[in-house]
Amino acid sequence: MISLKGRRVQKTVEPVTGFSILDMALKHDVDWGFSCTRGTCCRCRCQVAEGMEHLSAPSDAELDALEPEELEEGFRLGCQAKIKTVGSVTVTNKPYF
Ligand code: FES
Repeated sequence: MISLKGRRVQKTVEPVTGFSILDMALKHDVDWGFSCTRGTCCRCRCQVAEGMEHLSAPSDAELDALEPEELEEGFRLGCQAKIKTVGSVTVTNKPYF
């Protein structure tokens, strides 16, 4: 299962491989920040507390947009991080502002 924590809404849903975290949030009406969907605005930034191994490796856009320290702390861009394998993932939307 994937646990998605938006600003007010929190849901635990079935993961769909190939979907991004943002896709999952939008599909289930979780209030997730986003604008560009291309890895530049960072409004979809989120922190993965559990299950990073079930997500795709950081994309070039994420490597450009996020500091190495952020990546180490489990920050990803929701529009870029895709579900690679089914398993437990817990992720919270944490935009900069
Ligand atoms: S929606 Fe803009 S970086 Fe993800």
